[in-house]
Amino acid sequence: MIRDLTSDDIEPSLAFFRDLPEEERIYLRNDVTRREIIEERIRKMSTGNCLRLVAVEEDGRIVADGSLESEGFAWKDHVAELRLIVSSTHRRRSLGMLLARELYLQATNRRVEEIVAKVMRPQEAALKVVKRLGFVEQAVLTDYVKDTDGNKHDLIIMRCKLQDLLDELENYISLSDWQRAR
Ligand SMILES: CC(C)(COP(=O)(O)OP(=O)(O)OC[C@H]1O[C@@H](n2cnc3c(N)ncnc32)[C@H](O)[C@@H]1OP(=O)(O)O)[C@@H](O)C(=O)NCCC(=O)NCCS
Repeated sequence: MIRDLTSDDIEPSLAFFRDLPEEERIYLRNDVTRREIIEERIRKMSTGNCLRLVAVEEDGRIVADGSLESEGFAWKDHVAELRLIVSSTHRRRSLGMLLARELYLQATNRRVEEIVAKVMRPQEAALKVVKRLGFVEQAVLTDYVKDTDGNKHDLIIMRCKLQDLLDELENYISLSDWQRAR
């Protein structure tokens, strides 16, 4: 099931992030193994600047987390940033694509026109997914960010129009088995 993150999801959300391989967690912006970070994420959803969805197994386990967040400054209200994480046991089953599609559909009801994705150079799978979705590289900030081990990496800023993403996803889903699950 794909649904909103709620205040009842603190423990399953912590379990999901703590289960991610250490070598992937070092590229995440926040230390999502800390309870207060998860609580802050849930609080942020009520500001209206953040959509956050989770994919949940029948036993209540969270297996994917996705968000679209606008910085909330008036001059950038039409731009939101995409973040997606799928549990390593559930990858390559189109879950990332489905989560992205749900976020975009919800974003069309807001003022969002463009989506950006910021990816560190070593996040190769993430780069492939966003390119597959139709994002185009907009800028590279050399050695701009540090992973949690303190190593610097290039930050690649990718950008795409919301409507183009939805068209691409409809095309992807109509060619896959997920067509039957809609
Ligand atoms: C990036 C990530 C979210 C993808 O999730 P996913 O559910 O496995 O992705 P999907 O199954 O929806 O893949 C969709 C398409 O993206 C491409 N893709 C996905 N993972 C890929 C990989 N490891 N290598 C190459 N292409 C890949 C493929 O074209 C795939 O379509 P196909 O399986 O029909 O060929 C997941 O790998 C992840 O959580 N990575 C770690 C965190 C991260 O880097 N997040 C991105 C920050 S925006």
